[in-house]
Amino acid sequence: MTLPFVPPARPVTGEDEIEAVVRVMRTGQVAAGPEVEAFEDEFSRLVDGLHCVAVNSGTSALHLSVLALGVKPGDEVIMPSFSFAATANSVAIVGAVPVFVDIERDSFCVDPAAIEAAITERTVAIMPVHLYGHPAAMDAITAIARKHGLKVIEDSAQAVGAALNGKAISTFGDAACISLYPTKNIHSIEGGIVVTPDAEVARQVRLLRNQGMEERYKNEVIGLNNRLSSVHAAVGRVQLGKLAGWTKQRQENARYLDAHLRGVVVPPVAPGVEHVYHQYTVRVGAEVEGGRDGLAARLAERGVGSGMYYPIPIHRLPSFQRPDVRSRVSGELVETEKAAAEALSLPVMPTLTQEDLERVVAGVNAL
Ligand SMILES: Cc1ncc(COP(=O)(O)O)c(C=O)c1O
Repeated sequence: MTLPFVPPARPVTGEDEIEAVVRVMRTGQVAAGPEVEAFEDEFSRLVDGLHCVAVNSGTSALHLSVLALGVKPGDEVIMPSFSFAATANSVAIVGAVPVFVDIERDSFCVDPAAIEAAITERTVAIMPVHLYGHPAAMDAITAIARKHGLKVIEDSAQAVGAALNGKAISTFGDAACISLYPTKNIHSIEGGIVVTPDAEVARQVRLLRNQGMEERYKNEVIGLNNRLSSVHAAVGRVQLGKLAGWTKQRQENARYLDAHLRGVVVPPVAPGVEHVYHQYTVRVGAEVEGGRDGLAARLAERGVGSGMYYPIPIHRLPSFQRPDVRSRVSGELVETEKAAAEALSLPVMPTLTQEDLERVVAGVNAL
């Protein structure tokens, strides 16, 4: 008998999300409106009451934050190369220069010492990524930013609900960007949120997402259409109500995997960190036959999915080799290259059954 495939990740969408969509569709107000405002207000409770502006993707949240904070062509923004391309795209698309630095071995997040070494007179901002749901070293990063007069834009796409020393992730920077893509810890089908402590930055993002208008046809700045619809907001509101339970379940699944996996390095958690396990990412060393890719292939044969985030660091992507795209690498990206070769994300989503978890463990330990 073939057992059902355990996917690496699966969006969870319940009947109540479907009912919320129908409810909003029946109101007739399906574009932006009170439903979006309610979502922003409710999300704001997760992030110490800071300003929240909902947009149509995590990428838009990053792009509009970069614009709202006044990043200009030629300005440098320091970030890890070990991330999803959206992190760097949001900077390169405005003609600014992503400066790629190395990560810390344990957290997979940007290394503060590498940030400090990369600062030049052109540096205007730091963009840490809370990769896999593990917070970056925000105390060190915000101290560097203060010392050098730099902005901080948190890429919190993967870290909704995470915290560091009891302080919510997304409340450390001048702006923070959430993704609500279906496989994230909560989703709104597509969507994103900009979180900021600064009322003027929030106003700029609101203008930018709506063609530069606050008042209809009195466009104040050049803007785009990056609005979230009420239908998407309705899904997000229902999901938000489920976040705490799902996070707990992800953490319990992670604890089970930590306790039972053999032959791989389970994800370390730094002191004071509330890890929300968007991904449960192990390191597979060369001593495992076929290395990381070999393990992934053998897991697939046993019906266990896994994911490689990210096999090619951003600085080596073809899009960043183009002569018309400016970027820079600072220092040796030794840990970045190791992580790109060794990181393997195993299923950890809240809907896994005990049998699924046992199959993941059996699959890895068989090797
Ligand atoms: C680290 C990171 N940044 C940004 C994004 C972009 O988010 P979205 O897919 O919602 O545009 C993602 C999502 O995949 C991500 O993982």
